[in-house]
Amino acid sequence: MKVIAINGSPRKGGNTRLLLETVLEPLASAGWETEIVQLGGRNIHGCRACFKCWENKDKRCVFGKDAFNEVFEKMLAADAIVLGSPTYFADVTAELKALIDRAGFVAMANGCLLAGKVGAAVVAVRRGGGTHVFDTINHLFFISQMVVPGSTYWNLGYGLGEKEVAGDDEALRNMRHLGQAVDWLGRAVAGCGAPYPVQAGGEG
Ligand SMILES: Cc1cc2nc3c(=O)[nH]c(=O)nc-3n(C[C@H](O)[C@H](O)[C@H](O)COP(=O)(O)O)c2cc1C
Repeated sequence: MKVIAINGSPRKGGNTRLLLETVLEPLASAGWETEIVQLGGRNIHGCRACFKCWENKDKRCVFGKDAFNEVFEKMLAADAIVLGSPTYFADVTAELKALIDRAGFVAMANGCLLAGKVGAAVVAVRRGGGTHVFDTINHLFFISQMVVPGSTYWNLGYGLGEKEVAGDDEALRNMRHLGQAVDWLGRAVAGCGAPYPVQAGGEG
């Protein structure tokens, strides 16, 4: 089974990255193929609302010159998707929001391509606004018929400077537990087949 973790932070070696690595540890130990995809700091723009994905239905965004299609293909190939972001003004980074909007729309336009996958949200925060970031990410999962395991807190890690979150023991315990929960849920739903089909008419 395969899990990808997408780092929405432009800091390649920062707190979000450390939290994502910690989530992946138990999954790797359980035999999952793991990959961290760096998204923050890359060229990715928001949805242009052209609705071409609804016309073309080719599992891609028609704007092909930025990072979106490459990252979205990896999402489609994965059994579980972990989306991580630092807290920027109480929300996800601009890069992660661009991915969320376009991935959600292309997936819907093609008949709910993310349905049945396991999703987990991971957030780095200095002080406040982290649960809103957690909510933003979970909105993508829930509207996409993905399945979301709980853990022992809201998957937040506290820190400001790079890797400062390494001192947040409770967060690291939560991340390890989250990885175990993704493993448990992923194995539970593997082989269940596609969820119920989408009712016609839901388009954003
Ligand atoms: C533009 C910007 C906005 C931020 N906004 C918040 C915020 O609203 N609340 C907060 O607690 N921390 C905020 N922070 C701090 C980061 O969320 C925090 O340092 C986080 O650990 C960074 O994670 P990273 O190392 O993965 O980039 C902000 C940082 C930046 C650069």
